[in-house]
Amino acid sequence: MRPIACVILPTYNESENIEAVIRGIFEQREKIKTHELYVLVVDDNSPDGTEKIVSFLQNKYYNLYIISEEKQGLGDAYKKGIEYALKRFEPDLIIQMDADGQHDPDSIPVFISLINNGFSLVVGSRFAQGGGTPYFSIIQKIYSLFGNWLIRLFGGIPRIRDCTSGFKCIKADLIKKCSFDFISTNGYSFQSSFLFELIKNGAEVIEVPIIFSNRLAGETKLSAKDRLNFLLNLIKLRFSHSEELIKFCFVGASGIIVNLGVYITLTRLFYVILEIASPIGIECSIITNFFLNNAWTFKKRKNRSHIIKKMLKFHIVAGIAGIINYSIVLSLVYIFGLYDLIAICIGIIIATLINYGLNSMWTWKHKHEEETISDTEL
Ligand code: GDD
Ligand code: MN
Repeated sequence: MRPIACVILPTYNESENIEAVIRGIFEQREKIKTHELYVLVVDDNSPDGTEKIVSFLQNKYYNLYIISEEKQGLGDAYKKGIEYALKRFEPDLIIQMDADGQHDPDSIPVFISLINNGFSLVVGSRFAQGGGTPYFSIIQKIYSLFGNWLIRLFGGIPRIRDCTSGFKCIKADLIKKCSFDFISTNGYSFQSSFLFELIKNGAEVIEVPIIFSNRLAGETKLSAKDRLNFLLNLIKLRFSHSEELIKFCFVGASGIIVNLGVYITLTRLFYVILEIASPIGIECSIITNFFLNNAWTFKKRKNRSHIIKKMLKFHIVAGIAGIINYSIVLSLVYIFGLYDLIAICIGIIIATLINYGLNSMWTWKHKHEEETISDTEL
């Protein structure tokens, strides 16, 4: 049997839309040669009878499933749906999609073909070149662009243009690496948290432009509370991002011990002069720092570049940070008359941040730097 691609459709009061959406998805069947399409509806006991309609459609479509849960919001529905699908169908792919007609099922075969070309995460993007939100009002556009801009900035994922998209195709293996405990399950902020978690776990991501149509019927379920939650979630995202920085600081501290240890051994045991012992100590600490950062701090970044290349970059960064450190200390002491030990501490803090920033963005940069295909390539 072919591997399974399971479309997860969260629904709350989508009785007027669900049939057309399910039909649209199953119409893609013949275009997809590599995967078997399954659909899992995750309904939150919608009072409008969405569940009944789906149960009826199950007679027509044999790979159509539904689970019903207490209403706990969009994020929770996705979490339950994904967990259920992984266990029950052992799919190769999970596709997230809205059940109101705003996402065009024609994109599904495109997503799957990109996965077949080696990507592990395809994001249907309204803000990539060729994508769009033609039916959004000016206010909606501003909200959406501003929200995305905040997520890109705070979450440290500037290369993704649509961080709140609800239309994605994801390799099941990648999802299995993610921690669902961390992912905020509160309503809509789930989307950006989930994306962030997928990227943290080494997703090879590509954005595909999509046109976000109008709802077929009914109204959006996005509330003011959801918007507030979204903002609170940004802070959480920012904080979780600091794990690497904390590790980087520990490695830096270990480097000081290496530097001192080598220096003392050389000067005290082997009577090497300071001018030679000091640079050897520094170089040893740079090398141990490099390997520790490579094996521990940035372990999750599946950066493909050669280790020698990374080591060279690490040295260049250390050189730049060292020069800046030195200039800061000198200017704080000689221009601002600061006490030398305070100046050195400030120098170390600034140099550590520069070191971290440059190494994070350059030496160990995520391998999926900004890949987007435009309409013409599809
Ligand atoms: N099970 C369940 N429970 N489903 C829900 C819930 C819920 O509490 N709330 C919403 N849904 C379902 C809807 O029925 C619909 O199929 C889908 O989730 C999207 O909900 P909409 O209310 O239509 O969302 P939207 O169009 O305003 O928001 C879209 O854009 C957002 C970013 O701008 C969606 O794609 C969101 O996922 C996306 O974050
Ligand atoms: Mn919608």
